[in-house]
Amino acid sequence: MKKMRFEQLPQFIPSSLNSGRYLHNIITYLFIFGLGLVVGLTLSFYLNDLSFNIKENFEKEKYPVESIMANASIPNPPPPPPPPPPPPILPDRSSASQNTGVPPPPLIPQPQQTQVYNNPHQPNKPVEVAEQTTLPIEKPKLPLQQPKPLPEQMPLPVQHPKQVVEHIPLAIQEQAQQQMPFQEPKPLLNIPPKPPEAMHSMSDEELLHRAATMSHLEKSRIDYVPKVAFMYLSRGDLPLAPLWERFFAGNEGRYSIYVHTQPFYNGNAPPQSVFHNRRIPSKTVEWGKFSMIEAERRLLANALLDVTNQRFVLLSEACIPLYNFSTVYKYLIESTQTFVESYDDPSNVGRGRYNHRMQPHVTLRQWRKGSQWFEVDRELAVDIIRDVLYYNLFKRYCKPDCYSDEHYLPTMLTMKFWYKNANRTLTWVDWSKGGPHPTRFGRYEVNVDLLNHLRTGECLYNGKPTNVCHLFARKFTYLSLSRLLLYSQKALYY
Ligand SMILES: *[C@@H]1O[C@H](CO)[C@@H](O)[C@H](O)[C@H]1NC(C)=O
Ligand SMILES: *[C@@H]1O[C@H](CO)[C@@H](O)[C@H](O)[C@H]1NC(C)=O
Ligand SMILES: *[C@@H]1O[C@H](CO)[C@@H](O)[C@H](O)[C@H]1NC(C)=O
Repeated sequence: MKKMRFEQLPQFIPSSLNSGRYLHNIITYLFIFGLGLVVGLTLSFYLNDLSFNIKENFEKEKYPVESIMANASIPNPPPPPPPPPPPPILPDRSSASQNTGVPPPPLIPQPQQTQVYNNPHQPNKPVEVAEQTTLPIEKPKLPLQQPKPLPEQMPLPVQHPKQVVEHIPLAIQEQAQQQMPFQEPKPLLNIPPKPPEAMHSMSDEELLHRAATMSHLEKSRIDYVPKVAFMYLSRGDLPLAPLWERFFAGNEGRYSIYVHTQPFYNGNAPPQSVFHNRRIPSKTVEWGKFSMIEAERRLLANALLDVTNQRFVLLSEACIPLYNFSTVYKYLIESTQTFVESYDDPSNVGRGRYNHRMQPHVTLRQWRKGSQWFEVDRELAVDIIRDVLYYNLFKRYCKPDCYSDEHYLPTMLTMKFWYKNANRTLTWVDWSKGGPHPTRFGRYEVNVDLLNHLRTGECLYNGKPTNVCHLFARKFTYLSLSRLLLYSQKALYY
């Protein structure tokens, strides 16, 4: 056969060509073919990558993270990211039966949220917690008044949690027995009722006065579920809202949310979102200025109006939770200490910012520095919004290059509550690169190793060593969201 072909060759090629030239041609063809193959492969990879980039750029333009929200009508929260999110963690109690019918990953946000109501794990939690919740160190600071009838727009403290405790478990258990695990959550009646809108028409003065004179629930009462107030300082929409939605899912009745935005933002999260109607009346906040303290007080005062809020966390729009809700909740509710970072920094960005006119109320020895991102209990929260003396002192004498948000609370709370403050913050941040702003994490910086790294530390909790030191971390940009959603189940356990 081969021979035949060689013999026939001269018929097809000009006779002047010899077999050497023919071989040369074959090699050339082969080379061109190989080149085509390489180009084809490269192109296909490139196109693959391109489609992803196009999408990302598109999203970047549509929801610029850094630009202050110029237009309130920007849709929110941002749509789920390109990679299909892993299905939310399901409680492992009845894992045997559930694993057989693992549901497909949710394609749209709603189903994910609805699954939370089928969570058979949830009902037990409120009861457990309610029984354990006595905060040991707390001393009643003011004569406790009997709860007065509250005005209509205030949250009614006791009834909602009761419903949580008594009604939900039964309903959900029945539902779990009767139905397939992931059907439409019909019995909406048994979900803890949504809290009233956070928006109101009180002025700052009215608000602070009302919050400061708010009655308190007795610590020993077990007929309510204590809540953690998550207070967000944001410009507009929370860029990482989808991650937080995942974090909160299934824990209704154990948290409340308050969002302070720039005043010209008037958007709202969609009705199924936990951030729907959670914006409080807000005023302009400028970085490093005293308006930051005012915004923090506004958040605290709004959160204090709900008497079941027992712990108060300040978060930024660039914060992520490093643990699942149950871990965070237990950590905060059972803590005997508050978490306001406070230390004495002898350098010129510490003591150097002290103004001697603050004497005799604040001396240089009392001057402290610390992160703005705090966590306090009810007693400290009330004290902060009642404070007039230090508030005015800092407003007057701590102006850039003195930053009140780094000195006011650390100094004041250390003077008054040194005995119960852990002096550390729960919010991890990376200052290692220097400059006035901490490191930001985008898409390419986020991986499982980083998240594991953020989750491990060495510190004291209720007087005992622990490796859970930071419950939150910043600064994460919107571009990191897809990665965070990808790893949240694997690395953050929610
Ligand atoms: C905001 O959106 C509205 C329509 O939704 C549009 O008419 C207006 O021009 C936008 N404003 C800015 C500043 O983009
Ligand atoms: C926090 O700092 C204050 C004042 O520096 C100190 O008295 C207190 O013991 C510290 N608390 C802890 C838990 O280290
Ligand atoms: C929460 O996370 C911890 C690990 O940090 C895990 O052991 C626990 O099972 C998780 N709880 C839920 C309800 O997913």
